[in-house]
Amino acid sequence: MSRFSDMFTAWRGGAPLSEFSPEAKSRKLLDLSHGILLYLENVTVSFDGFRALDNLNLYIGKGELRCIIGANGAGKTTMMDVITGKLRPDSGTAFLGQTIDLLRMSEAEISEVGIGRKFQKPTVLENFSVFDNLELSLRADRSVWATLTARLSGEQKDRIDGVLLTIGLQTERDRIAGSLSHGQKQWLEIGILLIQDPYLLLVDEPVAGMTVQETERTAELLTSLAGERSVVVVEHDMEFVRSIARTVTVLHQGRVLAEGTMNEIQEDPKVREVYLGSSETS
Ligand SMILES: Nc1ncnc2c1ncn2[C@@H]1O[C@H](COP(=O)(O)OP(=O)(O)OP(=O)(O)O)[C@@H](O)[C@H]1O
Ligand SMILES: [Mg+2]
Repeated sequence: MSRFSDMFTAWRGGAPLSEFSPEAKSRKLLDLSHGILLYLENVTVSFDGFRALDNLNLYIGKGELRCIIGANGAGKTTMMDVITGKLRPDSGTAFLGQTIDLLRMSEAEISEVGIGRKFQKPTVLENFSVFDNLELSLRADRSVWATLTARLSGEQKDRIDGVLLTIGLQTERDRIAGSLSHGQKQWLEIGILLIQDPYLLLVDEPVAGMTVQETERTAELLTSLAGERSVVVVEHDMEFVRSIARTVTVLHQGRVLAEGTMNEIQEDPKVREVYLGSSETS
């Protein structure tokens, strides 16, 4: 049992869940009076003098679906590391709404306050069913054993059913997660985050390794998730970005190079020069 607990704790992001501060638990503090969910201002991250983020300014609106693109090394993952508390910047500020200072919170507190991050490699619990994976996420403050032996309330069951519907895995609910296709595992992982009802969902390269059909389904899923929450997608697959994008941000050398619709981005001479390359923009 303790092995499961350890595994589960690691899976949830490291820190013991009992250490969440009351402040992090309270979501009443979120102030969206300016319509902006996430503020990154003048954020700089240096590695041995090299600036992975260089005075980065980024604003994500409430309910927005934002795509972030940029060449390898542009700073995309580093940016997500700062937002999720994995990395502390050398300078700058990061706020959720007007009042929640992310730089004063631990990684676990940031997750609890409502920022969910999906890594490229799925981290579902392979030996548990799809349903159990969602149930464990719903009751993350309990041990695996307590979770799987205690009864779910009707409301909790409805919540899990709602997420199963959203991620399109209703008919797979009793399957062992390890037997799912690559795409289905990715959706389950998104479901595990959705159970926590995040304000902001960060998704790094969601369609890498997916079939064409899985990619299309993922586009529909991510599009449907915006509105109720904000979704930030980092992706290299430009066709995919085009299929979901409203606003695209181009990162280059740790800064925002351009921001706009996909068409605006592709017409932008700066972008053509440094990132897309004029031959790749069609
Ligand atoms: N821990 C680290 N130590 C030293 N340099 C690092 C570290 N993490 C990232 N970097 C450097 O910072 C820069 C930005 O890296 P980052 O991973 O954020 O890029 P990215 O935009 O996510 O790239 P990719 O598209 O390849 O995933 C790169 O030059 C990278 O080599
Ligand atoms: Mg990256």
